[in-house]
Amino acid sequence: MKILGIETSCDDTGAAIYDTGNGLLAHGVADQLATHAEYGGVVPELAARDHIRKLAPLVQSVLGEAGLTTSDIDGVAYTRGPGLAGALLVGAGYGRSLAWSLGIPCVGVHHMEGHLLAPMLEQNKPAFPFLALLVSGGHTLLADVQGLGRYQILGESLDDAAGEAFDKTAKLLGLGYPGGPVLAKAAERGDPARFRFPRPMCDRPGLDFSFSGLKTFALTTIQNSDDSEQTVADIAWAFQDAVADTLVLKCKRALKQTGHKRLVVAGGVSANAELRKRLSALADSLNAEVFYPRLEFCTDNGAMIAYAGAMRLLAGESQGEGFDIKPRWPLAEIS
Ligand code: KG4
Ligand code: ZN
Repeated sequence: MKILGIETSCDDTGAAIYDTGNGLLAHGVADQLATHAEYGGVVPELAARDHIRKLAPLVQSVLGEAGLTTSDIDGVAYTRGPGLAGALLVGAGYGRSLAWSLGIPCVGVHHMEGHLLAPMLEQNKPAFPFLALLVSGGHTLLADVQGLGRYQILGESLDDAAGEAFDKTAKLLGLGYPGGPVLAKAAERGDPARFRFPRPMCDRPGLDFSFSGLKTFALTTIQNSDDSEQTVADIAWAFQDAVADTLVLKCKRALKQTGHKRLVVAGGVSANAELRKRLSALADSLNAEVFYPRLEFCTDNGAMIAYAGAMRLLAGESQGEGFDIKPRWPLAEIS
């Protein structure tokens, strides 16, 4: 069964073909960095218009790369939510219409389920059950994953998501957009001994997160320092150090609490090299194994939606001729 996956929840247009027999056949992402860079963040209306321009040509190019035409597809999966309403509507409208015109099933996928299952596209894939740390621009959560659609949320961010904190802090440091990768790059030259940021919510029990205080701490530190390149790098290091430490500590707690020996880490921030290094050390110390998507599937992409959609279709799920989007859709409410 060959499934076309479509991702348009935010500022990346993604498309991919996943074959349940032969794995991933082709995938492509068209980013919108040039569209949003001058605004320092994603402008929802511009994102939607960009998806309209890019989606159909991207689907054609992915089909061509796989040596297929639309008549070879057996099903369509699109991101139903959460995300920006206008952006989601582009993928949902296109995907549902294409499936209808071809007379094939269609399914709307939860964006975070897509991230969560992205490591399944790798050769060394995790078996259920496992602990999942999802760290993206919109979400930070820990979930006990028993199987497809069986996600118990153990903790989540009470304010900013980890990626959002990276983006906001990078903006304060004048590092540009998107903040995660540029801040991580600047941190490479940082002096670990110069600043120390707090570890939010680590001194009390529980698995929830809070990252908005780090951004405020960064602002105060910036206001009380010079603006040299070295200082920017030192603050970037201290911020990343605090986020990574906090995420690792909560993963350690959650692994102990659940008894899981497999940890899946996904979402844009899972691309962070320092975080990966520390989580791998944690896994080693607990005799556990950690699984990540390949770097290009950490951030938004069509492959994870094609895979999650294929699993949903195989499980017998398929929607009728109508479609809807869910801009707000907690993972806990997924069935
Ligand atoms: O999963 P994603 O592409 O989109 C959402 O679903 O939100 O995640 C994007 C987020 C952004 O906040 C971006 O700054 C962050 O992931 N990110 C990173 C890195 N690469 C992307 N954060 C830290 N280090 C990175 N290397
Ligand atoms: Zn995402």
